[in-house]
Amino acid sequence: MIELKGIHKSFNGNKVLNDLNLEISDGKITVILGRSGEGKSVLLKHVIGLLQPDRGRVIVQGTDLAKLDDREIKEFRKKFGMLFQNAALFDSLNVFENVAFPLKEHRPMTDREMRDRVHEVLELVGLKGVDHKFPSELSGGMRKRVGLARAIVLTPEILLYDEPTTGLDPIMTDAIDKLIMNTQKHLGVTSIVISHDIEASFRIADKIAMIHEGVILLEGTRETFEKSKHPFVRQFLEGKATGEEM
Ligand SMILES: Nc1ncnc2c1ncn2[C@@H]1O[C@H](COP(=O)(O)OP(=O)(O)O)[C@@H](O)[C@H]1O
Ligand SMILES: [Mg+2]
Repeated sequence: MIELKGIHKSFNGNKVLNDLNLEISDGKITVILGRSGEGKSVLLKHVIGLLQPDRGRVIVQGTDLAKLDDREIKEFRKKFGMLFQNAALFDSLNVFENVAFPLKEHRPMTDREMRDRVHEVLELVGLKGVDHKFPSELSGGMRKRVGLARAIVLTPEILLYDEPTTGLDPIMTDAIDKLIMNTQKHLGVTSIVISHDIEASFRIADKIAMIHEGVILLEGTRETFEKSKHPFVRQFLEGKATGEEM
């Protein structure tokens, strides 16, 4: 389980998280939903220890991140796979090299073992025969797949997705949503997905937590949201407050 307890975070006097509390269950897909600029990426960076709270505690599987030193936090991050908003591939490396990169860094293995592992994860994300292509030769959706393959190559316990489908067309969005769900099923990981799209959240989430004005305004299932009478939630449901319009 991942616990965020009373998290406060400001940047230059701009309060982004204001006593935020959230529990994220193991082995489930939790979607963090909210408009652009509400602090979703900031929240995710706290979970992986890239940002420290001004106040409050982040506890991951019983470990209080504030108690880890630099070396321990590096070790701790190996639990995670992260798919960044822009896929963040290395442009000068081809698909195979991009996916092999974490293995080279962290896992001593033979060339043959590496080849097998890279091909295994590429197959899992539905990519075959593209080893030698460079990121610039791929569509947005394919780049996300490569990013996901790279995120799972070290078999993480926790997968973080920052707006995995933003900017993709509906068909590619559907494919990536399915991929997130299949990855969840195959690897049994804990997944945290950031989204500003409530419909997309309904499709994939076991639980949705909506962030607004620095706190979790509402959390629960699709039903919780559909039943909510909170004006901001209603607005979101009626499509009047999507991230794009902000
Ligand atoms: N490293 C930083 N330094 C200063 N301000 C930041 C930093 N990271 C995020 N912010 C600010 O925090 C707010 C929330 O950002 P972010 O978490 O990226 O929003 P989103 O919900 O769109 O992911 C924004 O106002 C952003 O400008
Ligand atoms: Mg963001």
